[in-house]
Amino acid sequence: MRIGIIGAMDEEITLYKEGMDLARKTRKIGITYYEGQWEGKEVVLCKCGVGKVNASVCTQILIDTFQVGAVIFTGVAGALHPDLEIGDIVVGTDCQHHDMDVTALGFPRGVIPFTDMSVFHADERLVHAAVQASEQVAEGKTMTGRILSGDQFIASRDTVRELYETMGGMCTEMEGAAVAQVCAMNEVPFVVIRSMSDKADGSAHVNFPEFTKLASQRSYEIVKSMLAHL
Ligand code: ADE
Repeated sequence: MRIGIIGAMDEEITLYKEGMDLARKTRKIGITYYEGQWEGKEVVLCKCGVGKVNASVCTQILIDTFQVGAVIFTGVAGALHPDLEIGDIVVGTDCQHHDMDVTALGFPRGVIPFTDMSVFHADERLVHAAVQASEQVAEGKTMTGRILSGDQFIASRDTVRELYETMGGMCTEMEGAAVAQVCAMNEVPFVVIRSMSDKADGSAHVNFPEFTKLASQRSYEIVKSMLAHL
C-alpha cells in the first residue's frame, strides 16, 4: 500500500525529502509530488500549501492520481490544551472545522448542515502506531484528542479558551480537518500528527520560525519510527 505524506510548509517536508529514495517527481495543479521509498514503504510526499482548500485539492489528487491507501499529515499547530508546551505532540483521534459556523441558523459550531459528517475520525491503527512512535522518540508529552482546523492563524487567548472549552480541541491548525474530510469522503484511512509550535496566544511571531523547525523535526522523527513499524 502506498502512503501519502503531506505537510503544509517547506520546513515540514524538507527532512522527508532528504531522507527518501526518490523515484519520480510530478507537478500537478501547482503542487509537486515526490514518489519513492522511505523506511521500506512506498510513499508519496508533498507540500500542500497553507489552508484548507490547498489541503483538500492535494489530498484528492493523492487519492485519485497517486492511489494512496492511507494519508499521514504531519506538521505544526497552536496548542489549545493548557498542559501542552511547545514541542509537545498531539495525535488527532478526530478532526473538525472550527470555522464552519452556521450557528445563525441554529446549528452547533463546527457542524456542517444537512450531513452527518462533521467530525472526521482518524484510523485507529494509524493513531495507535503514531502514539507508540511518539512515546518512543519524542522528548515532550504526547496527547491524543481532537484537532480543530480553520483558515485562520489563531493568536488570541480568548479564542484559545473558546476553542478548547466549546469545541474540545487539543490544538488548532489550518489543514487537518480538510485532509480528514476528503479522506472520510473517499473512505481512505488517515492520521494527523502535530507538534506544537506556539500557544495560539499572539506570541507566535516572536519565535515561530525557530519553534517550527524544532516541531517539524519532532513530527518527522515520529513518522519515521511509525512507518518502520507499520
Ligand atoms: N499552526 C501553527 N500555529 C498555529 C496557530 N496558532 N493557528 C493556526 N495554525 C497554526
